[in-house]
Amino acid sequence: MFGESVKKILITGGAGFIGTNLVRYLLDGRPDYHVYNLDALTYAGHPGNFDDLPDNLKSRYTFVHGDIRDAKLLEELFAAHHFDGVMHLAAESHVDRSITGPEAFVDTNVGGTFQLLAASLRDWQARDCPQDFRFLHVSTDEVYGSLGDRGLFTEKTPYDPSSPYSASKAASDHFVRAYGRTYGLPVMITNCSNNYGPYQFPEKLIPLILLNIIEEKPLPIYGDGKNVRDWLYVIDHCEALLTVFETGKSGETYNVGGGAERQNIEIVQALCSIMDERLGRAFGTSAGLITYVTDRPGHDRRYAIDAGKIKNELGWQARYSFEKALEDTVGWYLDNMGWVDSVRSGDYLKWIELNYQKRQGEQ
Ligand code: NAD
Ligand code: TYD
Repeated sequence: MFGESVKKILITGGAGFIGTNLVRYLLDGRPDYHVYNLDALTYAGHPGNFDDLPDNLKSRYTFVHGDIRDAKLLEELFAAHHFDGVMHLAAESHVDRSITGPEAFVDTNVGGTFQLLAASLRDWQARDCPQDFRFLHVSTDEVYGSLGDRGLFTEKTPYDPSSPYSASKAASDHFVRAYGRTYGLPVMITNCSNNYGPYQFPEKLIPLILLNIIEEKPLPIYGDGKNVRDWLYVIDHCEALLTVFETGKSGETYNVGGGAERQNIEIVQALCSIMDERLGRAFGTSAGLITYVTDRPGHDRRYAIDAGKIKNELGWQARYSFEKALEDTVGWYLDNMGWVDSVRSGDYLKWIELNYQKRQGEQ
């Protein structure tokens, strides 16, 4: 797809959950990429996620601490590196936070995406509009709103977002498509279902529940616990993103799903069983912590993806079984409690401070 042997790819939000897995996946498996990771290091971004990389992989990795809303920084970055493609993941991503503080979601998800599109377009036009450039926006199935008991989201399902988070992602999707149609920028969008796996910040359902089980805290279930999500293992997602980035058609949208619909209560019960066994507790101990709490306002009832287009046109489908990948995820958290402590304590924020001081010293 690209002219040169080593492709320069800009990944935004690469220090977050999916971004970390994606950056590591690319560095590990694809020596033909140099990854530039632009991340503002909000509470959800952890630069230490790459500390254990061997030097030969680190040599193809550049971390840029910065904000996608910073037009000047973006202009400098594009002028310096002329990226062959962009995978845009940086976002405020948690629905509950969007309910209590929607403004940050508009700022970053809409405003930041706009700045990134504008910077990409400027550089793309300055380079005579290379048709193999790709701007891939990583979006969510939540833009489609809520399903009833039947049916699946397809790429043609009308947008109907319920939360400030999904509304901001819907708006950013529209800007991405508009840049494709108006200026010809080669854009693509993926809309995926709920991810799980290593490095997920423990505010989302799966890591929150498993850490609460360890600490014998209540396991909060919103409403009746029968809301359904279609779970996607993050490594399957990374493979899908790379497939779309390399072989997807400019201007197209691809839905990505794991084909693993589960009610929230089923997820929590599964985690309780796994954890009772792993922690050597009597079967049923953890389930005793389940606590039904007031429902989330605007809580979408069911998400489920029809991933037929990406399978039929690009040959991707999820490979991991939900049960096995959930076990692996639990194993990763149990083996990485130091990471959990660090992200919860905000220790990593010291890294930002240190780096800032270092840069001040360099000036
Ligand atoms: P995350 O919250 O774990 O990580 C987001 C990353 O973006 C963090 O590293 C954060 O520091 C960075 N960031 C936030 N604001 C920024 C800004 N203004 N400038 C630069 N960096 C900024 O999110 P995630 O779960 O890894 O999700 C990644 C993307 O995938 C998001 O766009 C999200 O909407 C989308 N998505 C996620 C899921 C999921 O289940 N996690 C599902 C569908 C779509
Ligand atoms: P979450 O992980 O926040 O992802 P999203 O809202 O993007 O789907 O939540 C997954 C599901 O779990 C969702 O239906 C809300 C529910 N949930 C709970 O029941 N309790 C919790 O503590 C959390 C965080 C989520």
